[in-house]
Amino acid sequence: MAGIKPVRLGVNVDHVATVRNARGGIHPDPVRAAALARAAGADGITAHLREDRRHIRDADMARLKAEVDLPLNFEMAATDEMVAIAETIRPNACCLVPERREERTTEGGLDAAGQAGELAPRIARLKAAGIRVSLFIAAEERQIAAARALGADIVELHTGAWCDAVAEGRQGAADAEFARLQAGARQAAGLGLEVHAGHGLDFETAAQIAAFPEIVELNIGHFLVGEAIFIGLEAAIDTMRAAIAAGRKAASGGAAA
Ligand code: PXP
Repeated sequence: MAGIKPVRLGVNVDHVATVRNARGGIHPDPVRAAALARAAGADGITAHLREDRRHIRDADMARLKAEVDLPLNFEMAATDEMVAIAETIRPNACCLVPERREERTTEGGLDAAGQAGELAPRIARLKAAGIRVSLFIAAEERQIAAARALGADIVELHTGAWCDAVAEGRQGAADAEFARLQAGARQAAGLGLEVHAGHGLDFETAAQIAAFPEIVELNIGHFLVGEAIFIGLEAAIDTMRAAIAAGRKAASGGAAA
């Protein structure tokens, strides 16, 4: 396993916009947070333009693309409205996520297997626009196979159930979820898919999952923005990078960083 590449860190700035929108003004600006994240060593910026615009808004997404010199990962529901916006903004990648209006966050993975008919034309449009396509899915064999069949470039494995089990001290469930993620990462990489992961990650869980050699990128938002309240965004990103590098290094027998 020697020589595996460092894991890329995508910083999700949605919740900077959540705080801004709580007061209805322009502060704090998620684009300023993205620029700071870049200065702190982030490899990419992630933002989710939800159907209800509860945090990131259309203008934020356009400014993230225009003003921040990092690959932009545009999270969105697989709707014609969002595909049209992505075709205009032309992010580096679109990560298709399930979206329900009443949920607090993206609660489950995309049903790539069950919704293949609706996803296929939208994926084709994004790819035709030169945008890489990622599907946010649970680490389930049939979902990963469906992502491959749909021509996705990337799968982002949903780490939420694992992180919840870890946080709640449910060791058996945490171990089972971790094993499921590991098997999913292997399956996806074996099919030629780029493997990302995200949702609910903190310093400890990010370090643990960075040990999977198949993982190319982690997308992390809520914890970093929360931690920024206490230690600042730059320090939070710095500590996260160090945690991820340590997890990766342990996996590669000390050869990678
Ligand atoms: N990846 C995807 C696809 C997501 O929907 C989210 C949440 O918006 C994240 C990563 C980041 O999750 P968190 O904010 O819990 O770090």
